[in-house]
Amino acid sequence: MDKIFVLDFGSQYSHLICRRIREFSVYAELVPYNISFEELKKQNPKGIIFSGGPSSVYNKDAPFPENKIFEMKIPILGICYGHQLIVNNFGGRVKRANKEYGSSLLTIDNNKNLLNGIGESVRAWMSHGDEAEEIPPGFEIIGHTENAKAAAIASNDKSIFGIQFHPEVIHTEQGTEILKNFVLNVCQTKQDWTMEGFIDASMQKLSTIEGNVLCGVSGGIDSTVAALLIHRAIGDRLKCIFVDNGLLRLNEENEIEEMFKNNFKVNFTKVDASEKFLEKLQGITDPERKRKIVGEEFVKVFTDFAKENAPFKWLAQGTLYPDVIESGISKGPASVIKSHHNVGGLPDWLDLEILEPLRDLYKDEVRKIAKILGVPEKLYMRHPFPGPGLAVRIIGEITPSKLEMAKISSKIVEDELLEANLYHKVWQAYAAVGDDKAVGVVGDERKYGNIVMIRVVDSIDAMTADWTRLPHDLLEKISNRITNEIENVTWVTYAVSSKPPATIEPQ
Ligand code: XMP
Repeated sequence: MDKIFVLDFGSQYSHLICRRIREFSVYAELVPYNISFEELKKQNPKGIIFSGGPSSVYNKDAPFPENKIFEMKIPILGICYGHQLIVNNFGGRVKRANKEYGSSLLTIDNNKNLLNGIGESVRAWMSHGDEAEEIPPGFEIIGHTENAKAAAIASNDKSIFGIQFHPEVIHTEQGTEILKNFVLNVCQTKQDWTMEGFIDASMQKLSTIEGNVLCGVSGGIDSTVAALLIHRAIGDRLKCIFVDNGLLRLNEENEIEEMFKNNFKVNFTKVDASEKFLEKLQGITDPERKRKIVGEEFVKVFTDFAKENAPFKWLAQGTLYPDVIESGISKGPASVIKSHHNVGGLPDWLDLEILEPLRDLYKDEVRKIAKILGVPEKLYMRHPFPGPGLAVRIIGEITPSKLEMAKISSKIVEDELLEANLYHKVWQAYAAVGDDKAVGVVGDERKYGNIVMIRVVDSIDAMTADWTRLPHDLLEKISNRITNEIENVTWVTYAVSSKPPATIEPQ
């Protein structure tokens, strides 16, 4: 398989470069900027991209790639900070400039190679402090903006390019075309990264593993696809456990069981631990305590199952590529805002090796595989759902009646958004319930009932989110249905706080 390596100098867009390239079926991998020349050579990439980054080449601790990488005689594209690295390395000069952030008009000076077919000018997304003041000998300017006279440069032999703007973000017009020009035309890669190919290669690798595999499935797309791939390769040596914690969406536990057992004929056990979970959660109101209890109970049920069904050699997980990359990088204080629970915390004595068949994939690639494997669209296009489930959507103590209200009203929200063709346009949509009550009138009678809060947000990565401006008619319909169909609810509110300062989940 032909490969492009993206050296990560710390830009928030580094992942996007890989994703854009993979979208046109070329394998791209994000690697730390300080990857050694030897390692890179061993991997034999067809081209290298230097990502952007927050540093300046003049900073004392500026990140530089190993020098020999510039001389590898394979094509290089530098983006933003990567552009400045190229200017600096080959003898040009970078200067401090006024910070430029946003869209600029890029005028094309030479529309061959990198900018082939781009036209005379495009809007390009800039995000930089430094800029190239003098280009290196042996390079020419192929594009400029009003503020940056060397916004795009190319070496005379047309194998090294630098661009001040970000082709990977959607705000750059024809950004994908520019990346395609580099990857397909300059680097001459084959478009051989397909999900069918990935499945074949996974089958070969997975069918060589020995011993039994244990996989905890949640009904989410990642664990489902991981389990189905492994099942295809080793059949009943894979055992799946699904823990019904009583905190799932309406009827979800049955839909998931039906899919695994009847559609896919996977060795699948549903453990109904709902009573135990709800008992442990009784009286608990603190959000972090709830999360902790859900995590601990899960580990107990999981461990008991592993013991009773031993021996297992492997623990399968649906880890994705961004998690793999992130786990190598300090996440800083932001990551402790809420503790996210997954299948961590298993006791060491289980002595399981980790099997992560999706660790090279992005979410959209996993969705493609799900489709190929026959997973119902309803599942692989469903919104993300938090590990602790409705525990983070019930404010205050979790009681059976609040759970029921949250389940039914969330189903109404989901159904109405689907009906209005909006479900797939938003990031998450659900209803939360707390202890607040408000007076209503039913017939001639006053009724003191619960308040249900609708939350619908737009987001691209859940790091930030904006409340969705749903049409008023739709909100009215949702509100009417909830108050009509759920006896105890008198009021419906809509959450109009974005993240930050709010979070997506209320607990
Ligand atoms: P917040 O509420 O932190 O949520 O803005 C960001 C995204 O993460 C999901 N979420 C969780 N997922 N365990 C999970 O697996 C958790 O404890 C958890 N808390 C929040 C949330 O649904 C949203 O997509």
